[in-house]
Amino acid sequence: MKKTLMIAAAAAFVMGGFAATEAVAGGFNVKKCKACHAVDKKKVGPTWKDVAEAYGDEATLAKVFADGFKVEDRKLIAANDKWKSKAGMMTSQYKKNIKGHEEAAAKALFEAVARGKI
Ligand code: HEC
Repeated sequence: MKKTLMIAAAAAFVMGGFAATEAVAGGFNVKKCKACHAVDKKKVGPTWKDVAEAYGDEATLAKVFADGFKVEDRKLIAANDKWKSKAGMMTSQYKKNIKGHEEAAAKALFEAVARGKI
């Protein structure tokens, strides 16, 4: 009996640990994006509020990521040419941090906008 309880407690601890990690990172470390983005202040890149508005929902953004994040598919560049000269910066971020984590990255971006900070 005692042993069963201990196993149950250990399992709960491990599961709780996983859940906490998920909540912090959302499966994706969004902090990497902070150097150049904020939710509602332009930094090196556009505000994520503008990004969220332009894409509408995370599935649309995840699809553009999954399709290789081509410059001609990027909605902010399409809406405002001034970002085009900086596209290369975001392309290297994409290759380094987003590729392979397309859905998690899109989800993390929309969650950051909902919470009001990255
Ligand atoms: C070194 C600076 C830098 C970092 C770090 C960075 N970005 Fe960007 N990002 C930019 C710039 C500059 C643009 C504007 C150029 C563009 O739109 O491609 C941009 C644009 C974007 C866009 C809009 C693309 C469009 O035109 O529609 C998304 C989405 C995005 N970033 C997501 C992210 C995510 C997610 C991360 C973290 C993994 C990240 N960025 C990290 C510089 C950065």
